[in-house]
Amino acid sequence: MPTISLAIQKGGSGKTTTAVNLAAALQQMGHRVLLIDLDPQANLTQAMGILEEVEPSIYHEFQKVANGKPSDLSAIILQQNGLELIPASLELAGAELELVSTYGREQLLSRMLKPLKKEYEYILIDCPPAIGMLTVNSLVASDFVLMPLQAEFLPLKGVMSFLRHFEKVRTTLNKKLKVLGFVLTRYDNRKTMNRSVLEQLIGAYGDKVFQTRIRTNIALAQAQEKGVDIFSFAPSSNGAQDYMELARELLEKISGN
Ligand SMILES: Nc1ncnc2c1ncn2[C@@H]1O[C@H](COP(=O)(O)OP(=O)(O)OP(=O)(O)O)[C@@H](O)[C@H]1O
Ligand SMILES: [Mg+2]
Repeated sequence: MPTISLAIQKGGSGKTTTAVNLAAALQQMGHRVLLIDLDPQANLTQAMGILEEVEPSIYHEFQKVANGKPSDLSAIILQQNGLELIPASLELAGAELELVSTYGREQLLSRMLKPLKKEYEYILIDCPPAIGMLTVNSLVASDFVLMPLQAEFLPLKGVMSFLRHFEKVRTTLNKKLKVLGFVLTRYDNRKTMNRSVLEQLIGAYGDKVFQTRIRTNIALAQAQEKGVDIFSFAPSSNGAQDYMELARELLEKISGN
């Protein structure tokens, strides 16, 4: 079943917000979804209402496989507000360095995830804002990459550099990896800059740009702070509508791929 990386090296582009609310939208549509926090900042884990350091986290599973021990990701899944999450912890920052000398280090997550893939209809992985070992592991374990972009910045340079890395991973490590698309977040149609970013993105990447745009909506930030998804926090907000629409468009795009 499809595994989707939410990735782009630019910080604050809406990866974590999209991970939690897209997962919640898919779950509301009746799908079984697993969320994986692969960012040492552990923002997704916090956004799911888990504020204290968790142990064991995905870091400990990385350590096990790196040392040739059996890993069982299903043992560390947390049930949180009806969603299922594999949590991150700050120690995960160490994994980037610790794995450097590990044989097959790019494939560790892919190996760990294999037994879980048939249990879930969708697996969403929230990546850190960097193209390091963790993001590469996520891309190798995925079928698709979804790139959230903040409409406030001209993102093209960053996008091009990310796509070069994507292409390297695709050709050398995971031939089935595909770009699902770009989603503009914190979008405000009244702002010239936002409309111009949208136009440039469509000019460069055409129908890879999702028609659904996530509007600026303070309720999304408030929900994240409260540790709940937008559907439990403000079900009739623009944020809830936009993420439901995004989930519909995403399913369409996946079935056409
Ligand atoms: N549509 C939106 N409207 C208002 N605020 C938003 C929206 N999307 C995200 N935010 C807020 O913007 C901030 C950054 O979003 P988020 O954490 O999802 O980005 P990120 O790409 O995961 O960041 P990082 O790269 O650091 O992991 C958060 O405080 C979030 O609540
Ligand atoms: Mg994040």
